[in-house]
Amino acid sequence: MQPHFRFAGFMGKRVHLGVTGSIAAYKALDLVRAYQEADLMVSATLTESCTKFVQGLSFEALGASPVYTSMFDGGPKADTAFGHLEPGQIADVMVVAPASANTMAKLAFGMADDMLSCQALAFSGPKIVAPAMNPRMWENPATQRNWQMLGDLGFIRIEPECGNVACGDTGKGRLAPSEEIFTATLKAISPQDLRGKKVLITLGPTRESWDAVRFWSNPSSGTMGACMAMAAYLRGADVTVVAGPTALQFPTGIRVISVNTAVEMFDACQEIWPAMDIGCATAAVADYRPVPFGAEKFKKADSGSKGMTVEFKSNPDILKTLGRQKRIDQKLIGFAAETGKLKEEAERKLTTKDLDLIAANDISQEGSGFGVGTNQMYVLDKQGRAETWPQLPKTEVAWRLWDHLLLD
Ligand code: C5P
Repeated sequence: MQPHFRFAGFMGKRVHLGVTGSIAAYKALDLVRAYQEADLMVSATLTESCTKFVQGLSFEALGASPVYTSMFDGGPKADTAFGHLEPGQIADVMVVAPASANTMAKLAFGMADDMLSCQALAFSGPKIVAPAMNPRMWENPATQRNWQMLGDLGFIRIEPECGNVACGDTGKGRLAPSEEIFTATLKAISPQDLRGKKVLITLGPTRESWDAVRFWSNPSSGTMGACMAMAAYLRGADVTVVAGPTALQFPTGIRVISVNTAVEMFDACQEIWPAMDIGCATAAVADYRPVPFGAEKFKKADSGSKGMTVEFKSNPDILKTLGRQKRIDQKLIGFAAETGKLKEEAERKLTTKDLDLIAANDISQEGSGFGVGTNQMYVLDKQGRAETWPQLPKTEVAWRLWDHLLLD
């Protein structure tokens, strides 16, 4: 899982995972791991057909507890006379992944003829369902009706993907990626304090071409911005990311506008900023762009051994422009990657770019900045509150920055 999915700190929260008979059942083991890395407690119920693919022992070995495999089979369930009710009493979220066509039908119709369907019926918290099946089974009107019914009943539904499935068919029916199911789970138990807010986030580097194949850029991975986007999304915001070239993946609920150059990023932001409530600029925008040598590839022979000179033009300052256009009901967060004079630079940029909050980090310090999963921030807001934070995972920095913005 990419670093921006690695949110932790869900201590004391419990997830109950239901796993059904599908070739994708083994993928539920990845979910158990991911949940545990997020500090969640995990319990599980495997349907009888699931145990033909993956056994309860695998889930127990990874630390899931208890693991139910049937309604009446003793084991950890023997001393839990009401095992069919237990997740409903103690779990914060229930996830059925992969959900077979059969289990989907049971959930849709409120059947209760095995442990998992009983537990689901007795569970009043948020329920997530992620199906996996043969594409023709998925397309069957009966399955589609059940899918619709699950939506009407309030299930959080994670659509299967298109692709090749185990039986050799191609079409929709593959279990959604673990990241998608994991993110939906965290969202279901996160505070929804950014619900209804439209958030714009710029991230990644920009690429400024100087001939047909070469460009001027920087090593930004976009991770800090992706963490800001994910944290806002988990907390209920409607998130649009304007991303320079990165390898980052986002859950389907986040809208991504991909750009290359600073001017493209500027144009994309200009178009959507009026409709936004909050802007957050984490992108490492190239301040200058080379004046291209033309449409062709530059040839060494053209300059010989004399070296070469590249001329640069200024790029627009995206954040500063958004700051100038900012309405009273809009808020703006900026970042500053510095190599010294952190506090002075943060203060200057907060004012000159008309920001509500700025997060500055010293990129010359180890564990702070490009290409690492952590950051050490100096945070300053418009009200004059200034804080120096310890080195933290970027996911944690993002979570705290949203907390900070919501302070006033
Ligand atoms: O002025 P400086 O580049 O140090 O400011 C950093 C902040 O401004 C970051 O939030 C960055 O995303 C944003 N920025 C921008 N457009 C630029 C340069 C920086 O949005 N051309």
